[in-house]
Amino acid sequence: MGKTVQRRLVRKRNLEITLSKVEPHPTPKAYLEQYTIPANVAAEILYIAAYVNDDIIGKNVVDLGCGTGRLAIGAALLGAKETVGIDIDKTAVKLAFENAISLGVKDKTSWVVADIDAIHGAFDTVIQNPPFGVQKRKADRRFLQKSLEIACRIYSFHKGESNKELLKRLKGHETKVVPVQPSAFLKNFIEKRGGKIRAVYAMVMTIRYMFKFHKKRKHEFLVNLYVIERKGKL
Ligand SMILES: C[S@@+](CC[C@H](N)C(=O)[O-])C[C@H]1O[C@@H](n2cnc3c(N)ncnc32)[C@H](O)[C@@H]1O
Repeated sequence: MGKTVQRRLVRKRNLEITLSKVEPHPTPKAYLEQYTIPANVAAEILYIAAYVNDDIIGKNVVDLGCGTGRLAIGAALLGAKETVGIDIDKTAVKLAFENAISLGVKDKTSWVVADIDAIHGAFDTVIQNPPFGVQKRKADRRFLQKSLEIACRIYSFHKGESNKELLKRLKGHETKVVPVQPSAFLKNFIEKRGGKIRAVYAMVMTIRYMFKFHKKRKHEFLVNLYVIERKGKL
């Protein structure tokens, strides 16, 4: 058996506990929207990607805007063949590298300090939690565009549309996913670039107080995970 493909099922709770050890950014910058994905949300979506859709195990995975590496490290822990994390911020990438060492996936991960424009090639899967464009309008669109250029399967977080009822239903249940309709704009954007939306899941994300302009101790808001397939060959 030359191939080291991991077929062992990793328990979701264990993955979450391990990912909670990935250090968040020590000095996050608002303009880069450098908040770290909660460990339970990361574990939930990596689980869907790995065990529901078979898009992680034995695959080449890229994490665009990897921050300190939670999603990339999670993919490596679940058995990705190779995972590349890329982020424009040197401090974040340095920490991602250190996190990968301490969590035992140094040899299965590569880390790049660069704008996402620098990455080219063909990969199996992109997992990304890009800036939502709250600070810099349309920031997430460049990530979507790039992911559709380099991968066949894409898992991409975007800001959810405001829906008080859904938010109330999901608050306190960070790992609950509810299928929802895509936004008309993103659907059009994705399809124009050769993508097909397979599913959109609404989830709640909780961000603790980080920046001076945050008014509350914690902020719970809706996010949508887009699962996208790219039509045609790369
Ligand atoms: C919302 S954070 C997510 C971090 C990490 N993926 C996570 O989920 O914990 C977005 C990340 O994108 C990075 N970023 C923003 N613009 C970028 C660009 N043009 N190229 C590469 N990375 C970028 C930021 O530095 C930040 O780490």
